Amino acid sequence: MAIQWFPGHMHSTKKAIVERLPDIDVVIELLDARLPGSSSNPLLAELTAGKPALKVLNKQDLADPELTTAWLAHFNALPGTRALALDASVAAPARALIAACRALAPLRGGMVKPLRVLICGIPNVGKSTLINTLVGQRATLTGDEPGITKLEQKIVLAPDFYLFDTPGMLWPRITVERSGYHLAASGGIGRNAYDEEEVALALLANVRVRHADRLRARYKLGDLDGLTDDELLAELGRKRGGLMAGGRVNLQKAAEIAINDFRTGAWGRITLESPDEFVQWWAQGQALEAERREKREKRSRGGK
Ligand code: G4P
Repeated sequence: MAIQWFPGHMHSTKKAIVERLPDIDVVIELLDARLPGSSSNPLLAELTAGKPALKVLNKQDLADPELTTAWLAHFNALPGTRALALDASVAAPARALIAACRALAPLRGGMVKPLRVLICGIPNVGKSTLINTLVGQRATLTGDEPGITKLEQKIVLAPDFYLFDTPGMLWPRITVERSGYHLAASGGIGRNAYDEEEVALALLANVRVRHADRLRARYKLGDLDGLTDDELLAELGRKRGGLMAGGRVNLQKAAEIAINDFRTGAWGRITLESPDEFVQWWAQGQALEAERREKREKRSRGGK
């Protein structure tokens, strides 16, 4: 079953972004480097079309370096767009972001025309951490449940550089089925919106293709070839203390272990999607949406 996630408050966020945009020179979209396509918000792209964009691939310390390079090339090839990868808690690369913004809007800067930058990102992508690093003190809250940063803030990073934090929450919009799983696995959507077992199965199905060796090493497993994804999850549970009375495996516990191991980097640096894969999924998702729309319209016109 695909993940459904329709949190409220998006309307007011959208309105606030639209109101703020005329005064904005550069839009930073913070992405999760492990899922740069899925953690990108298509609504933001629509709202900010034509504005210089900086895509920041955060949590690069957890992502596959080769795929991060591929994603950076992908974004850098888009018009009016620059991309960089960083680890939000490390100060020097975080400050490279300021230079990248200046390069995107070379006509702004100086006391008369300060550079005005809006920073956006779905919950849990690391926005508060990055802002704290940029500011150099714990000015905003961070936490592990999506949705902590709520109010707009204007942060003066230099006398001629203003950073505006997105007012409201920019929730992810899931148009691609796999994106739902990737977002859930990374912590980008709330825990009550998905079933851990389903997400863990999707995660294992993905990771075993590129990194079977790491799963084997982590859980001391033999060849994975003969195992279905369900059997792999059960094996993982068996190896990690998930056995219940009677020898049955607690699959819920196994799923939680798998998701947590992915999130904390215990499987090594992993990226769940390449640009080519994502472009393909996206096109399929769009085609499906168009089909559904057409059917809806037909029905409302009285057809079948
Ligand atoms: P948000 O404002 O976008 O919602 O995200 P926030 O900064 O609260 O970060 C969410 C979680 O991601 C935090 O972990 C934070 O430490 C972690 N994080 C942010 N940037 C990076 C990064 O570049 N690399 C890694 N590995 N982790 C990052 P947490 O466990 O929820 O909280 P805590 O450990 O900070 O207490």
